[in-house]
Amino acid sequence: MRRAEALRTELHHHNYCYYVLDNPEISDAEYDRLFRELVALETSYPALRTPDSPSQRVGAPLGERFAEVRHRVPMLSLGNARTDADVQDFDRRIRKDLDTDAVDYVAEPKLDGLAISLVYEDGVLARAATRGDGVAGEDVTAQVRTIGAVPLRLQGGGWPRLLEVRGEVYLPIAAFERLREQMLEAGQTPFKNPRNAAAGSLRQLDPAVTASRPLTMFCYGFGALEDGDLGATQQDALAAFRGWGLRVSPESRVVTGAPGCIAYHRAIGERRDRLDYEIDGVVFKVSDIAAQRRLGHRARDPIWAIAYKYPPREEQTVVRAVEFQVGRTGAVTPVARLEPVDLAGVRVSNATLHNIDEVHRKDVRAGDTVIVRRAGDVIPEVVTVVEQLRPRGTRPVELPKHCPVCGADVVRAEGEAVARCSGGLSCAAQRKEALRHFASRRAMDIDGLGDKLIEQLVERDLVQDPADLYRLGVDDYADLPRMGRRSAQNLVEALDRSRRSTLARFIYALGIREVGEATAAALAAHFQGLAPLLAAGIDSFIVDEPGIAGVGEKTAAALLEWLDAHPDAAPGDEPFADWLAELGVRGLRPAAAAQIAERWPDATALRGAAVAELRGAKHSLIDGVGPIVAAHITSFFAQSHNREVIDKLLDPDIGAITWQAPAAGSVAAKAGSGRQPLAGKTVVITGTLSRPREAIKARLEALGAKVTGSVSSKTDYLLAGADAGSKRAKAEALGIRVLDEAALMALTAGGSEPAADAG
Ligand code: IVH
Repeated sequence: MRRAEALRTELHHHNYCYYVLDNPEISDAEYDRLFRELVALETSYPALRTPDSPSQRVGAPLGERFAEVRHRVPMLSLGNARTDADVQDFDRRIRKDLDTDAVDYVAEPKLDGLAISLVYEDGVLARAATRGDGVAGEDVTAQVRTIGAVPLRLQGGGWPRLLEVRGEVYLPIAAFERLREQMLEAGQTPFKNPRNAAAGSLRQLDPAVTASRPLTMFCYGFGALEDGDLGATQQDALAAFRGWGLRVSPESRVVTGAPGCIAYHRAIGERRDRLDYEIDGVVFKVSDIAAQRRLGHRARDPIWAIAYKYPPREEQTVVRAVEFQVGRTGAVTPVARLEPVDLAGVRVSNATLHNIDEVHRKDVRAGDTVIVRRAGDVIPEVVTVVEQLRPRGTRPVELPKHCPVCGADVVRAEGEAVARCSGGLSCAAQRKEALRHFASRRAMDIDGLGDKLIEQLVERDLVQDPADLYRLGVDDYADLPRMGRRSAQNLVEALDRSRRSTLARFIYALGIREVGEATAAALAAHFQGLAPLLAAGIDSFIVDEPGIAGVGEKTAAALLEWLDAHPDAAPGDEPFADWLAELGVRGLRPAAAAQIAERWPDATALRGAAVAELRGAKHSLIDGVGPIVAAHITSFFAQSHNREVIDKLLDPDIGAITWQAPAAGSVAAKAGSGRQPLAGKTVVITGTLSRPREAIKARLEALGAKVTGSVSSKTDYLLAGADAGSKRAKAEALGIRVLDEAALMALTAGGSEPAADAG
């Protein structure tokens, strides 16, 4: 019992270090351990569970809506200043009303979040409410309790018995960006700005949703106070807040007179882009609390405080055109060309639209009036279309079929948001990047071909593609500025050396998307030459495993588990397929049920099936080459300009690149591309082999063999693994050569007839 209280105190402290001080004292794992210990205690002894326990942050969902809360003291708004002169007027009025020469103000950023009132009774959080109309707001206690920066009970002591703290709940910009991405990925309409994100996250009936959003809070003021006070000045109150574990802006300062206010506004304005939260201005409050009381308020805002705003970062403008840009990695990105507008001091005439899905989701069209926004240092973006202002005759934007720079096909891999130019090696937009990669150490390793040189070669139009590098001679290179004859000579020698490469390096150097060094090596080892790789279709990389289309691992397991748990269940009069479809197994659709029923005629037969037999899956034949990579590879080689560059690179008169056989010990390939030692041979595979049957089949086919299922007089070789049965016997009876894998390797390495039989 004392342990529970000690744990609570300790957890409150670590929570404070983490969320308020941003300076944890223990690891997350240690925190979790303490937390679990407390939860275990409270579960065993529910009487120990107090409302302010750290375990009680996420409560049960509310019913249909939020309850209304009337504020004990109205939550006021703020008057605005837009110019230095407005601030001088404000200060002059205050000085006159207070009849003094100089006034101190507490200055702090005006956060663009959500105003919240926290009521603490005897130091324990009793109620949290939104501002609402200022008189009454919504009860968001359960939601606010999930915010780590809000103490469930105050630290130390000396607080008023009833203390109403006011502040701003907000979502840091980085968290907002992350949330937006998650929502985009989930196909939801993302929040437009951090403020909406904060409001949307707090106004969730289910506190668990709020808990999943990294909201935080700065406390900047107070409302009702009973039995106690906060000191004489606003800064005293903030210092007291800090002492009680509440989070207060570290930017808060005391300044004097209008000049102090104006300088503060300028200083924060200069750092606005680097703050990790949105602000729309700074606030000045008369520091002396008694003076605040004397000054009082107007209908909606206090006389003793004012907000000095910054220019907005959102503006309305018109889209002149939607164009597509090609980046150095080939990404084809839509860009809105705008009627220029000023956004917080920056003239903006372009805004990113991220990708084509985003264009369609927002339905941005040429001629549209849009809201554009600039947050922090990020590129301006189109937030939304003002649909009421759309002129007649606009048309939806379409992804171009061809690259606007080089004309190559624009492709979009399945499941990817980004469209890309497939021009690769030959697209001017990608040329420098392609050359840089081609020459890099792990690719063709061309010493002396650095970024500066590549820049010059491309800008002078001397090099269109990597093959051109080999066409140029010492004289051409020596002609370049800041390039002596000596360096030119060295470069040409380095190029010469690079002509003798390996197939793996060459494949890697081509810069096929998602084909890194390891994948390139796997492709080289698998195909043993360039020709079979060039000829390969998707099914040379991926095979569909036998199974039921549309049935994943989970569904297969769930179905078999259900059958296991109901050993006597069987369909009555109805067809087996319908019965299966109606079992209520998650993810089992009628079409799949029908297929299952075709293969397993009844429940007893199906009970004997394995998950692996049921699940339909794709199986890759080459390490690192799944369906997406396979699509990149085949589309790269399908492009005629890529094949032209490859031809030039291999042409004895141009690139003259050759490669050696892979190192001894690996599956050897003596010659270059396209050697097919098994051309015209028919091979049958049997028994258990070191790799999946499909991989071996693809490999044999790459070497020119025809692979069939049964042994006949037409069979040339039987590749027999362990436990080969009847096929081996039949082959032996027919006098057909039986090879094991080692013999097969020897065959493909030496190119001669196999020397010995396997048995
Ligand atoms: S003081 C009586 N200080 O601005 C004083 N407000 O436009 C009332 N706000 O509803 C507010 N940061 O949501 C104050 N440091 C700050 C603030 C701040 C943001 C918001 C608050 C208020 C609105 C008024």
